Amino acid sequence: SVVDGVRTFDLTARSGTREFLPGVETPTWGFDGPYLGPTLRAERGERVAVRVTNELDEATSVHWHGMHLPAAMDGGPHQPVAPGGTWEPTWRIDQPAATLWYHPHPHGATEEHVYRGLAGLFLLDDDASRAAELPSEYGVDDVPVVVQDKAFDDDGRLELRHDGAEPGMLGDTVMTNGTVGAYHEVTTERVRLRLLNGSTARTYAFGFADRSFDLVATDGGLLDAPVRLDEVRLAPGERAEVVVALEPGEVTRLRSAEPDLGGVAVPSTMGGNDAFDVLELRAADRLTPSPVPAWGRSSHADDDELRAEDAAVSRSFELAGRQINGERMDMGRVDEVVTAGDTEVWEVRNANPVPHSFHVHDVQFRVLTVDGREPPPQLTGPKDTVYLEPRRTYRLLMRFEDYTDAEMPYMYHCHMLLHEDEGMMGQFLVV
Ligand code: C2O
Ligand code: CU
Ligand code: CU
Repeated sequence: SVVDGVRTFDLTARSGTREFLPGVETPTWGFDGPYLGPTLRAERGERVAVRVTNELDEATSVHWHGMHLPAAMDGGPHQPVAPGGTWEPTWRIDQPAATLWYHPHPHGATEEHVYRGLAGLFLLDDDASRAAELPSEYGVDDVPVVVQDKAFDDDGRLELRHDGAEPGMLGDTVMTNGTVGAYHEVTTERVRLRLLNGSTARTYAFGFADRSFDLVATDGGLLDAPVRLDEVRLAPGERAEVVVALEPGEVTRLRSAEPDLGGVAVPSTMGGNDAFDVLELRAADRLTPSPVPAWGRSSHADDDELRAEDAAVSRSFELAGRQINGERMDMGRVDEVVTAGDTEVWEVRNANPVPHSFHVHDVQFRVLTVDGREPPPQLTGPKDTVYLEPRRTYRLLMRFEDYTDAEMPYMYHCHMLLHEDEGMMGQFLVV
């Protein structure tokens, strides 16, 4: 609702039960309901205020992943919400339209809180996204697709295993929006799917066996132009918006098939051999006409442009084991201090033979190069999280605009949540 010009949301974290498998109720956590949370939505320029209530028996937090906002409102490990407590962040939406999300970030327990079901989408709108020719009726031809892998024990109850295996827990059941065997009845010629990899460790390669699709947006918003692809790879935390066309009466399936994890030696236990059905699309016998995705580069506001020649500062980050630059996360240590207004290049190297990912709070970045070469098309849009292929170096361009705070840091970390929990995270101040 809107109160005094401020868009307000209530979110309550609580426990519940959910029937994922027929006939078996399993304990879960969710925001407002028993599993996952409502899709929040706001407009560029709008002020938002959220009242977060924690009805769990332990502290949690709610982080606005991908959002540009003051560090004290970020919902990271420094903004815990005690059991029975509330937290009321407020900020102004000051970034392009995008598919963002929210999830807990309690220090050392993020994997468990997300796995149990605490996550939801946060959609942003603006004039450019409305002017783009995109399907945009939420739940009809603009469909959230939150993908998570789960494991169930012999009794059919949700299981969180910690067997120490890389890259964290991989479940053998994939659910979409909290549903096993999800489908969507399509009534239009095209549908826009807002894909979120909401898994804790698994990387997917989303596509269709029988058609390609248009990639229209990445984590932080629209690409300069749609890109036709057969597949889009998403690591935990990454998003993509794709538009797919159907013929009347057709049935097709979004699936994830054997993602190329990018290293010749990546062991099969990392999930590179796995294939799943993600969402069945069932087209009606008559379909309403849809716009064909199209817009010009000019639809982007110039002040959102990042230019490599503006970069005055560069920093290096090496991810190895559970450390970044040889250090594990320490809540009391600030690792980097950034000056507001600066454009920077962060050179991020995955030094391991296994996958990592890299996420930076507060900003959207551009991938300049991967091992010195141009990035693939799916990495050309605004990003806040990027899959790091084993033994590769990624150069990321970002600008820290404002919101200085000499005390409260933002985080950067691996978004494979077990890695994050075990210390693959660092803190930066914007001053
Ligand atoms: Cu999606 Cu620091 O998190
Ligand atoms: Cu984040
Ligand atoms: Cu990692």
